[in-house]
Amino acid sequence: MPTFETHTDANQHYQSGFANDFATEALPGALPIGRNSPQRAAYGLYAEQLSGTAFTAPRAHNRRSWLYRIRPGAVHKPFTRIPTETLRAKLVANFAEVPATPPNQLRWDPLPMPAAPTDFIDGWVTMAGNGAAESMSGCAIHLYAANRSMQDRFFYNSDGELLVVPQQGRLAIRTELGNLDVEPFEIAVIPRGVRFSVELPEGVARGYICENFGALLQLPDLGPIGSNGLANPRDFLTPHAAYEDREGKFELVTKMNGVLWRADIGHSPLDVVAWHGNYAPYKYDLRHFNTIGSISYDHPDPSIFLVLQSPSDTPGVDTIDFVIFPPRWLAAEDTFRPPWFHRNVASEFMGLVHGVYDAKAEGFVPGGASLHNCMSGHGPDAGTFEKASKSDTSKPAKVDATMAFMFETRTLIKPTQFALETAQLQANYYECWQGLTKHFNPEQR
Ligand SMILES: [Fe+2]
Repeated sequence: MPTFETHTDANQHYQSGFANDFATEALPGALPIGRNSPQRAAYGLYAEQLSGTAFTAPRAHNRRSWLYRIRPGAVHKPFTRIPTETLRAKLVANFAEVPATPPNQLRWDPLPMPAAPTDFIDGWVTMAGNGAAESMSGCAIHLYAANRSMQDRFFYNSDGELLVVPQQGRLAIRTELGNLDVEPFEIAVIPRGVRFSVELPEGVARGYICENFGALLQLPDLGPIGSNGLANPRDFLTPHAAYEDREGKFELVTKMNGVLWRADIGHSPLDVVAWHGNYAPYKYDLRHFNTIGSISYDHPDPSIFLVLQSPSDTPGVDTIDFVIFPPRWLAAEDTFRPPWFHRNVASEFMGLVHGVYDAKAEGFVPGGASLHNCMSGHGPDAGTFEKASKSDTSKPAKVDATMAFMFETRTLIKPTQFALETAQLQANYYECWQGLTKHFNPEQR
């Protein structure tokens, strides 16, 4: 496995806070003070702005960073399209690929590990999505399974920011703006355009990616919850500046409108010596989530489990909600404690990082996925219903050893052809509700 020497100013590993105005330098004095674009930057560096929102976006939403780097991002050879026949990655940008989205509940077993050497980028498979990268609205949902570090290969995504949810294996994500080490139970968000390379310290890795074409992910408002709770801003960690000064024969890959392109590049693009700004990669440990729920009866809508949201143009209606179902106490009395049966206007793609999800006794395993689209009926399986209907609710119970999550969207999540044809699709998923027999008796209340 390749190792790379990096230079970092990190006395501690990360800077804390969500979308703070960070400032970091790996060499003393590399960051200009009080200005962005001096006539000559220190150490012979080039200044470059990386903007993640429109220049004129309101201040509260405006995101950009200034990078001080060995060579500007423009220095590389022309991109050429990677021939699709050589691609291991199965990427889809046009979700009209399957013209008819089935209203069925869908569920998949985990992707098998690839047989051939496959890195983080080659290991992508698009499962579903909506909207379009080119119109900057909607999302794509991918799975990844990889067994090799990216070697002399760098990637940036032109199509959106990447919310990465590892399920198996740590990821050492080396980015232009510094290094993120991410393990299962943590998530990483890599902004659109940020160049990075992924190493696999454990040799294999598998997980989920929500690619957000729309407004940048943000922390939700807390309303009557108050000033603390859910995901707290200080638990979001952004790397310190770290750079490598390395020349050689490297490859720069990007995805633009769902298509992969490659360019030769004669140096490592991870050459940013200092940067400041609020557009940067970050990670978050889901185990820090402050879970809130009922302490009397019933339980609230799952919006209470919201970690990050991508708002739409309609107030209160998000393009993407990233929701988790972490370990928690269930205390509601005389209440059916698992998730209720429901049909929602929103569409729900679920994954499982660890353990068992409390609405499904079996069949939904870590690394697997399910899709319940707009108005598709779902909820606890028959076994879970029977158990929860008879359980003693006079005492609290702990839902332990679990970490499920959901990418919930306002528009239909259209599965790809791969998702509908793969051997991992469970043909018998519907059976989990067939045992829900009739209990109705008009003579007995
Ligand atoms: Fe649901």
